[in-house]
Amino acid sequence: MTPPHANEAIRILAVAGARPNFMKIAPLMHEFARRPGRFEPILVHTGQHYDKAMSESFFHDLGIPEPDVNLGVGSGSHGQQTAQVLMKIEELLIERRPHAVLVVGDVNSTIAATLAAVKLDIPVAHVESGLRSWDRKMPEEINRVLTDSVSDWLFTTEPSALQNLLREGVPPERIHFVGNVMIDTLLTHRERARKLDTLERLGLEPQAYAVLTLHRPSNVDSTEQLKRLFEVLGRLNKDLPVVFPIHPRTANAVAKNLGGYTPDLQLIEPLGYLDFLRLMMDAQMVLTDSGGIQEETTALGVPCLTLRDSTERPVTVTEGTNRIVGTDPVAIEAAILELRDRPATGPAPEVRRPALWDGHAAERIVDILERDLRGKDPTKT
Ligand code: UD1
Repeated sequence: MTPPHANEAIRILAVAGARPNFMKIAPLMHEFARRPGRFEPILVHTGQHYDKAMSESFFHDLGIPEPDVNLGVGSGSHGQQTAQVLMKIEELLIERRPHAVLVVGDVNSTIAATLAAVKLDIPVAHVESGLRSWDRKMPEEINRVLTDSVSDWLFTTEPSALQNLLREGVPPERIHFVGNVMIDTLLTHRERARKLDTLERLGLEPQAYAVLTLHRPSNVDSTEQLKRLFEVLGRLNKDLPVVFPIHPRTANAVAKNLGGYTPDLQLIEPLGYLDFLRLMMDAQMVLTDSGGIQEETTALGVPCLTLRDSTERPVTVTEGTNRIVGTDPVAIEAAILELRDRPATGPAPEVRRPALWDGHAAERIVDILERDLRGKDPTKT
């Protein structure tokens, strides 16, 4: 790949496909816009997520520019979805010839875009690199390992990632500890979210409800597991409302496998970014199997119980508010009750966030890209 000429803007093709990508791509797009003439970003939406509530509302809430291209791949098996993105993005890369491709996170769109780019000799920057759950049954783990092994810039969010990447033989000069772009977004929008009437709309009192999210195949694809989980959470819901914005994958699984059964929870449609942030902020606890929510609750100082057997984000446990409780409903119920019944400790102490979760990760990333692609350090002019 030919580097940009002296007066040419650096063309970066940035890829976003699924809901957890949008809050990561937003601060990067804003950072490119802050450097007019120096970058020419091309934003590509793969269309992996397409419902208004899963996609468009995030672009709106986070002020992400309209994508330059939408590949419209939609749902399908992993093979179909990955292949569709791979084929369509390859064509686009040949047409647009970017100087680099920027991918975030660990979804199918991430690995597909990476693979297309490296085969065309276009360097890849991977944001949120090096996270490992050590569970190869998770599709995201495969996506992470493969993306990292062929990326040129590996931007990491926490110390564990460096160790993981070095162990896999990644040359240390490719690894850059820059902090967490998702927390850039959270810090940017926290005060706006605080002013929303989300709790009033849902009839909730601050500190008197739990928030639940559930969409991992390991939790929702097994009828038995899903039913037992709902029974436990239904018991909690009798004296602490459990608000459950339901992911389409989970809604499909409930409709298909639990025919006619409605969990005894405060079921609502998926929320936009700002409403969900408002909901997390004042929750007594958050119960989740998401990756990103473990980080967001740590940044907010809200207790989080992760309903999985592992986490790829250990800093949320060692330095944050997260606890990994597994998927056994009996253990989950015990952990919930312990948290619910613990004595009040007075006002929460000042939240201590992990290193570099300070709202400046995107700035660091774009500085490094500019330095390496331009051969000149923008922080030293
Ligand atoms: C994907 C990511 C996962 C991420 C999650 C967040 C992969 C492998 N998984 O999982 O890492 O945590 O997004 O949401 O990339 N659907 C809709 N409307 C939509 C999108 C999906 O109805 O806008 C339904 C479809 O039935 C689809 C199912 O949800 O088949 C699953 O969507 P998919 O993109 O395959 O994976 P997620 O479970 O969302």
